[in-house]
Amino acid sequence: MRFLITGGAGFIGSAVCRRLAGDPANFVVNLDKLTYAGNLASLRSVDNLPNYAFVQADICDGETVSAAMRNYDIDIVMHLAAESHVDRSIDGPGAFIQTNIVGTFQMLNAARGYFESLTGEKRDRFRFHHISTDEVFGDLPFDSGIFTEETPYQPSSPYSASKASSDHLVRAWHETYGLPVVLSNCSNNYGPFHFPEKLIPLVILNALDERELPVYGKGENVRDWLYVDDHAAALQLVATKGVAGESYNIGGNAERRNIDVVSGICAILDKKRPRANGASYADLIRMVTDRPGHDRRYAIDASKIRRDLGWTPSQTFETGLEATIDWYLNNEWWWGPIRKEQGYERLGSLKASGPAK
Ligand code: NAD
Ligand code: TYD
Repeated sequence: MRFLITGGAGFIGSAVCRRLAGDPANFVVNLDKLTYAGNLASLRSVDNLPNYAFVQADICDGETVSAAMRNYDIDIVMHLAAESHVDRSIDGPGAFIQTNIVGTFQMLNAARGYFESLTGEKRDRFRFHHISTDEVFGDLPFDSGIFTEETPYQPSSPYSASKASSDHLVRAWHETYGLPVVLSNCSNNYGPFHFPEKLIPLVILNALDERELPVYGKGENVRDWLYVDDHAAALQLVATKGVAGESYNIGGNAERRNIDVVSGICAILDKKRPRANGASYADLIRMVTDRPGHDRRYAIDASKIRRDLGWTPSQTFETGLEATIDWYLNNEWWWGPIRKEQGYERLGSLKASGPAK
């Protein structure tokens, strides 16, 4: 199979590229703009392989995207490129509208033109896989409810609203133009190569730096966590075996309150890398002003992908979190340069954000 992966230099996209390019039967083209979130260092283990190619391009550039599909004779498009951080979408929603909505429209138009040029088996094989999030379903109460594929969309943040819009466009291109699409909506991912603005890597690296560990609101918000390599395995199944026109929810049955995630990281670090002063890293936890529009709880019912495509995650939250912490302890070559450039100001508090961008 010949794959075009958009956003392959990001957190999840790089896990997908590493997985697919690890099999010489596949050919993998990674198309990525290399925004702040894109990092070719995450692809060091595959970038010399003969079955891997990189194209630096913006998904909003329809011509370049079309040429990549044609020139590389693509069978399956896996569309992951996006602006992905909720807090940044609060500070500056414009980039989310541009990349996540306009960019997906350009991807769909390019895919439609390319699909219409295909014949025979090549045409039967073609899929456009749109990678999305459970955040499109919105806010669940603390004590009940779970997202299924039939849950109505009710996004709360500029990020989730832009992803919901892109999901609707993808379905419309299936219904209207017959483009063979598949969609997947996944819960919060964590694992190696995760950009340290998201909760888990931020807390690990702030702790190692003896910085404060910011927990929004009361820390009671619940996220349903999935190890990134388990997501990559699920995505391969959806892209290659999913039924055209269908969507699949992906999640690891691992609901945790934020405060428990942060305390859990502190407890593991206390054992693996005790602080010089002998205190617990938990002393660095600070409750800070809540995120505006903060969804209380996400929870995924993944029974459809388990039943129909035979997917099962390999990590529990406990084994995955320990593996993630070990990875950050051993891979400063990857995160060191990012932390130097990144700065430490709080993102996504309305106070910090200026006029609309
Ligand atoms: P990420 O922010 O780590 O990576 C995004 C990648 O897209 C980067 O490499 C970036 O350079 C690239 N990109 C951004 N704008 C682009 C553009 N205009 N043209 C080309 N490339 C561009 O994101 P991620 O966490 O790996 O998420 C990947 C996808 O999975 C996104 O679509 C996201 O909505 C979805 N998703 C993420 C999670 C999660 O927990 N991280 C959960 C469910 C779904
Ligand atoms: P995040 O990693 O930004 O993912 P998402 O917003 O897509 O779920 O945040 C995960 C949870 O952690 C979310 O409820 C917000 C919270 N959070 C904090 O409490 N402190 C932080 O510094 C960050 C970045 C997030």
